[in-house]
Amino acid sequence: MPKIDSHPTVWPKQPHTQAKHDILVRYLGAWFAIFGASPYYTGVNVIDGFAGPGKYEDDEPGSPVLALNTLLDHKDFAKYHDTRFNFIFNELHTERFESLQSVLADAQAQRSAWPANVKVTPSNQNFQQLAQQLLDSLGPGQRLAPTFAFIDPFGYQDVPMSTVRDLVGHPSCELFIYFDFNSVNRFATAGKVDDHFTALFGCDEYKNAPPAGDPTRSQFIHDLYARQLRKECGFAHVASFRMINATGHTGSYLFFCTQNAKAYDKMKEAMWAIAPDGDYRFDDRYSDQPMLFGNDANTGPLQDQLAEHFAGQTVTVETVIDYVLDTPFHSNQVRAKTLAPMQRAGRISSPNQKRKNTFPAGTLITFPAHD
Ligand SMILES: C[S@@+](CC[C@H](N)C(=O)[O-])C[C@H]1O[C@@H](n2cnc3c(N)ncnc32)[C@H](O)[C@@H]1O
Repeated sequence: MPKIDSHPTVWPKQPHTQAKHDILVRYLGAWFAIFGASPYYTGVNVIDGFAGPGKYEDDEPGSPVLALNTLLDHKDFAKYHDTRFNFIFNELHTERFESLQSVLADAQAQRSAWPANVKVTPSNQNFQQLAQQLLDSLGPGQRLAPTFAFIDPFGYQDVPMSTVRDLVGHPSCELFIYFDFNSVNRFATAGKVDDHFTALFGCDEYKNAPPAGDPTRSQFIHDLYARQLRKECGFAHVASFRMINATGHTGSYLFFCTQNAKAYDKMKEAMWAIAPDGDYRFDDRYSDQPMLFGNDANTGPLQDQLAEHFAGQTVTVETVIDYVLDTPFHSNQVRAKTLAPMQRAGRISSPNQKRKNTFPAGTLITFPAHD
């Protein structure tokens, strides 16, 4: 097989890889719970299109094992017996695929009895071929069952927007994709790899990026990719998370895309847990500082925004939560973290609240008009 990158078969895990895995595991925990308990879906897919060798140099698990363990060790897994979980782990590189197979075999051997509703399919091909194979396996008019696709290449090749669209660009499919910002930033206007970038974006507007050194160039590139994911694949919600490398520059972004507002909310919650300042980024330079996992967000800006947006209105707590979905905050930050301090500070009141500072369903909230 031709050399496909400069990494060895198994490579050391970078700090930002840990952050990526933390987001993945947190989100999948929520995703499995939603579909495992759903009476509407009998089967779901997890596609790890660039699965890697299954482990890192220090034997820490790669994304396939993390995804499997998140399901099998889920506290409610025993209740999910009516849902089939279909995992597809695809890796192109021959030696990495062999490593992946052996890691998966070990993971299965470690469980005394493998659950009948969990199927693992290793695959050794180019991601684009895998996507085509999956699409060809569907009957006329058929679409994939609810699918979480993790697309995690090293660079910008082999992830054309058209393949992403055909595979997951429809309701109940979700995408968590690595975007090689560093390469696009370096070469967007260099004319060197235009064929690859045109495929990656599904358009050639990246050629209009402001010149290198212009402070708006980075945002332009980020926003163009987000816009294309919405436009080409029809995703209603797109969240991004920035990875800053050891030199202090943006190396990559992870984009999460879904049609579902609840899924979007859950992913924002997973991302907040890794970036508790609410800035949706991870910086390799500070990776040795203890991670403050938790939900202690500074909601001051959200409090001000709500006071401004709902000034003079009385609305339900559900209306407030719907509004928050379109902000960087997530729904679990609304009641105790935002509305309760607002009430304590006299910034809101409620005509039907049974207990102060609590906001069960149906609670009405009055935001005073501006003076
Ligand atoms: C960033 S690594 C994956 C890491 C893994 N997802 C994890 O989190 O543990 C990218 C992997 O994609 C593989 N790869 C590269 N080109 C590929 C292609 N066209 N199709 C499938 N796999 C590919 C590489 O060999 C590499 O193992």
